[in-house]
Amino acid sequence: MSATAERIAALRAEAEDAIADAPSTAQLEQLRVTYLGRKAELPNLLREVSQLPAEERAQVGRAANEARQALERLIERRARELDASELQERLEADRVDVTLPGAPPQPVGHHHLLSATRREMEDVFLGLGFSIAEGPEIERVYYNFDALNHDPTHPARARTDTFYVSEEVVLRTHTSPVQIRAMEAAPPPLYAIMPGRVYRPDSDATHTPQFHQLEGLAVDEDVTLADLKGTLLAFARGIFGEGREVLMRPHYFPFTEPSVEVDVSCFACARGTRPDGSRCSLCKGSGWLEVLGAGMVHPNVFSHVREHGYDPERVQGFAFGMGIERIAMLKHGIPDLRLFFDNDVRFLEQF
Ligand code: PHE
Repeated sequence: MSATAERIAALRAEAEDAIADAPSTAQLEQLRVTYLGRKAELPNLLREVSQLPAEERAQVGRAANEARQALERLIERRARELDASELQERLEADRVDVTLPGAPPQPVGHHHLLSATRREMEDVFLGLGFSIAEGPEIERVYYNFDALNHDPTHPARARTDTFYVSEEVVLRTHTSPVQIRAMEAAPPPLYAIMPGRVYRPDSDATHTPQFHQLEGLAVDEDVTLADLKGTLLAFARGIFGEGREVLMRPHYFPFTEPSVEVDVSCFACARGTRPDGSRCSLCKGSGWLEVLGAGMVHPNVFSHVREHGYDPERVQGFAFGMGIERIAMLKHGIPDLRLFFDNDVRFLEQF
């Protein structure tokens, strides 16, 4: 065997040992460079085969070629072994037991105070036999004003009091338009509440451009103002506590006649005076908290839904509407409406 052929055999043996023992993919790559790279000895020998004496050429060429192919195969095999074992190691190391509790355990969340208040209010009315109806927040002028008996010059229609999407379309300013939609959808008797978002261009400590109302509508034969008062008394006691009374004061709404504003007796004092003799700050010493607007459905409102079974000669109804924020503020002594919408968890976590 020529000296070159011996050198090739020695190189091959050395490389085979090193490759078989390569401990990692990275070190295997390093060996590939060392033994088969552009500056490595074996490829160099191959390139110089043509300069060898003729009798050596074939033998050395074959040996070098075989050595190179053998090493390449060996590297591939070792690479596959290492890949498999490294993957196995990573899987072992990264093993996660998805059934373990998180660390730290996540606190269970709860409803936003407004959602919780809405649901509390809904529960009272569901208990009285009302069902829940909904309508669109982007509403036609017809439903928001016309069908609710607002005359064409009513100030609430002004651009300063209502967000207009177009001449005929507004962001609803109250939940009352859902009264009309509910009557279009089903004939009397109708007992429904209609919670939802409403919009008005106001912004200060007691007004936000978006807020929530809960509307109520009851239409049947022989419905009277006494039924309205009884319903609201049950509501006041359900939300503000057993001993509550309600007070109706005359008022005006275009879509009810007669119309009333309704107060609930203050739950924080006795007729305006706190147990320690001081004037109650919640009701400003009056003993009453104003909570909502209401009244008997105006016959002109029924005339818009007459063909749906609402003949003003046959049926009567009462309606009421109140702010959900206002109920929550009164009940929990919250001083600023904007707190509901800042989403500061230090506020939200208190309820
Ligand atoms: N829609 C009235 C408001 O937003 C409230 C109301 C509803 C009054 C139903 C009477 C009857 O102020």
